[in-house]
Amino acid sequence: MAAMGPNSAALIGSPPEILRNGDSSYPYRQCSDLYYLTGFAEPQATVLLRPGADEPYTLFVRPRDAEREIWDGRRAGVEGAVKNFGADKALPASELRGNLAKLIANVDDLYYELGANPAYDEILLAVLDELRRGERRGMRAPRRIVDPRFSLHELRLRKSSEEVEVLRRAAAITSEAHVESMKAAKAGMGENEIEALINYTFRRRGGTGPGYTSIVGGGDNATILHYIENDAELKEGELLLIDAGCEYAFYTADVTRTFPISGRFTEAQKRCYQIVLDSQLQAIAMSKPGATIDELHDCCVRVLTAGMIELGLLQGTVDECIQSGDYKKFYMHRTSHWLGMDVHDVGVYTLDNKPRPMEPGMIVTIEPGLYIAADAEGVPDEYRGIGIRIEDDILITADGYENLTAAVPKTIAEVEAACQRS
Ligand code: GLY
Ligand code: MN
Ligand code: MN
Repeated sequence: MAAMGPNSAALIGSPPEILRNGDSSYPYRQCSDLYYLTGFAEPQATVLLRPGADEPYTLFVRPRDAEREIWDGRRAGVEGAVKNFGADKALPASELRGNLAKLIANVDDLYYELGANPAYDEILLAVLDELRRGERRGMRAPRRIVDPRFSLHELRLRKSSEEVEVLRRAAAITSEAHVESMKAAKAGMGENEIEALINYTFRRRGGTGPGYTSIVGGGDNATILHYIENDAELKEGELLLIDAGCEYAFYTADVTRTFPISGRFTEAQKRCYQIVLDSQLQAIAMSKPGATIDELHDCCVRVLTAGMIELGLLQGTVDECIQSGDYKKFYMHRTSHWLGMDVHDVGVYTLDNKPRPMEPGMIVTIEPGLYIAADAEGVPDEYRGIGIRIEDDILITADGYENLTAAVPKTIAEVEAACQRS
């Protein structure tokens, strides 16, 4: 409310429940903005903030309903919304339409994300119309509709120490799942079995589950960036790429490791792996307040491109291959994104058209990779079908960084050791 300024109101609603097929719903996940503001996870919730008002925080929620609660589960109800979630006032969700006009009348700025949710748009447009037509009665419409995302997401981008603690927990569970996968994977198993082990580890340790769809790609499936079928057989001599992060209490980790299914890297795999690792370690070492995500990316591109030339994947000098964009044949994604409640977390990446300097409390991933398609043209055969990514979660601190996922084995020696069963 301090970020909103005086004489303003904010209207933030929850997304609709979505059917998966027939009459079965996906498990409900509160949108991160509403959860961040309220801690309220139930569907059909709306938060209305009015800084300076007698009751600044109103929450609209599903009312208690003995019959529905037998079928769908417990509800906080209007009593719980006040008692347990700190709302100054709570009303049944069905009363939003009837109360909205008087709650937003006469404010200058109404913070509302137009176009994000048609059901809310419809209510708001009707209420705005009502207010415009009723101005003679002293209730005027807001002067401006302001997108709440910028100010709200600036808050979400800088993590409090409590948020960092939650993410640490997500990172610890995620680390355990990657270690368990390295130990368990062997030729003849299915990618699905490893995915099951990851899901089991996440849930067993109290996580919600994966914060995004896990990627478990053996062999050249690892060269498909968003491979999520996860149903092929693991083969002797191939690598397994796992990109999986646990969501814990609404915050997700995002970790990738690539390891040999047989427990030992081949010489060709080692050469590729070491290049990706070197690029990642150099970028991590640059992480500190003032550094930018673009600098981390440029660092990785430079090291990876030099490696691609050394392997014979590209011809020319490093500068030429970067200039021409040739390196993108084997490294086609960016290196970093913000991390938090959403895996690709909110927060703008540029300020005044310039890459934004990182600050203490921000969390970024650093995730360089090398992807050599099985049918890539003009590459030595021994490298075909090799896909490698290494990804860690980096907290920017006052004097540098802390790698929240440092517990997952990463050097060639550490990874090979973790792949041994005994
Ligand atoms: N797992 C999504 C990403 O690494 O960005
Ligand atoms: Mn990532
Ligand atoms: Mn990832």
